[in-house]
Amino acid sequence: MASGDPGPDGMVLWTRLARDPVHPDGLGGMPGGPTDTIDVDWEVAADQRFAEVLQRGTARTGAELGYAVHVEPVGLPADRELWYRFRAGGEVSPAGRTRTTPAGPALSPLTMCFTSCARYEQGLFTAYRRIAEEHPDLVLHLGDYTYEYGAQPSGSTPVVRPILGDEERTLADYRRRYAQYHADPDLRAAHAIAPWLLVYDDHEVENNWADMVPEKPDPDFPARREAALRAYYENVPLRANARPTGASMRLYRRVAWGGLVNFHMLDTRQYRGDQPCGDKYPSDCPERTDQARGLLGAEQESWLLDGFRGSTARWDLLGQQVMLSQLAIPRDGARVYNPDAWDGYVGQRDRVVNGWTEAKVRNPVVLTGDVHAHWAADVKTRFDDPASPVVGTELVSSSIASGGDGSEDRPETAGVLKENPHIRFFNNRRGYVRTRITPETITADFRVVPYVSRPDAPAETRASFVIEDRKAGLNRT
Ligand SMILES: [Fe+2]
Repeated sequence: MASGDPGPDGMVLWTRLARDPVHPDGLGGMPGGPTDTIDVDWEVAADQRFAEVLQRGTARTGAELGYAVHVEPVGLPADRELWYRFRAGGEVSPAGRTRTTPAGPALSPLTMCFTSCARYEQGLFTAYRRIAEEHPDLVLHLGDYTYEYGAQPSGSTPVVRPILGDEERTLADYRRRYAQYHADPDLRAAHAIAPWLLVYDDHEVENNWADMVPEKPDPDFPARREAALRAYYENVPLRANARPTGASMRLYRRVAWGGLVNFHMLDTRQYRGDQPCGDKYPSDCPERTDQARGLLGAEQESWLLDGFRGSTARWDLLGQQVMLSQLAIPRDGARVYNPDAWDGYVGQRDRVVNGWTEAKVRNPVVLTGDVHAHWAADVKTRFDDPASPVVGTELVSSSIASGGDGSEDRPETAGVLKENPHIRFFNNRRGYVRTRITPETITADFRVVPYVSRPDAPAETRASFVIEDRKAGLNRT
């Protein structure tokens, strides 16, 4: 079970029923008739032993919902640690820890871990276990919670454990993949310790999808996207207002942590223009800097800029997928870029960065996943101009498992850092970022696990940075 999207008086509580979780039918061996339903009891308590139950109720689920349960209790006390569990068919689930956010303008400190990219077959989920051991108040997952691929080799990264099934295409395929992931004890521990805020990236559907454009031409892509988004919603703790309609869902949203943090959770897949330069990595072409292009879409862009203007939070944190800061890659005497990241959509990047600057957002910090490595950067108004001011900060988390054991460095790193002086840190191990957020500072610890090809890796801090109130940019400690 899991919880997510906390507010001052509630959150969403999630579970899914199964008798044979990885059955190829995707329904976990449960009855598949449209009228087959089961009632699931839930309760929320003030204590781990459920001596003081604050709320209880019953939710109905069935085949139509993939036997998923999403419950949204309201009226719970603010800024409190709470426990929840489910009961169905004579079985009781383990207890999960969750919490409500502080109410109103309260500035209670927050411990938050964020991460991304958990390719099951490429590594053990030890980093999820280490996140659980941090006892965070909140976990952010910035995409690639699952991967769509079948059992196939990928570059030089070895397969360390088998993935079931072929590349996902049908609802049953996607549902079964989540069931296999959810059997992982480390992932379960990370869900059981704290509420999560999730956004998908590409691999919950298909590599590098952009709106209705799949990676390779595919007339069935709308049906595939519909199946993928439906299975995603069924298998993560999102609120009911995110439930897909056909092949669309409303993922982007704001979540406040009292007056301390305004989380702007973005969707950079569903409304983006197709990748420029033929989506060749890395590359450059005039389309890349075309002002009209974007990866948020017009509606989400104005929602975000309105959110900047209306924010009174101490910290505005953008929870999103792909790297925002410029990453110029020197190659054969030229500078080339990743067309799938914000570097492929420079016009909209400028509007977002200028938007928070003009709105005088007090402390904008961008949180990013996708690239399977840790990065930290000062966000500048003009990345090519060393004299231009630092107007924000970006923290990029490495992956849970994608990329295998990794390395401390890469042969090209020194050249990349020299070409991009606003980038302050890089590490190519797996891991997550632990943040401690107070009214005065954010402390970010870049945590790594030295290996994921065998169990029990410790978590180690490779670098720590402090961001100070009203002073954009990184200070290494
Ligand atoms: Fe990824």
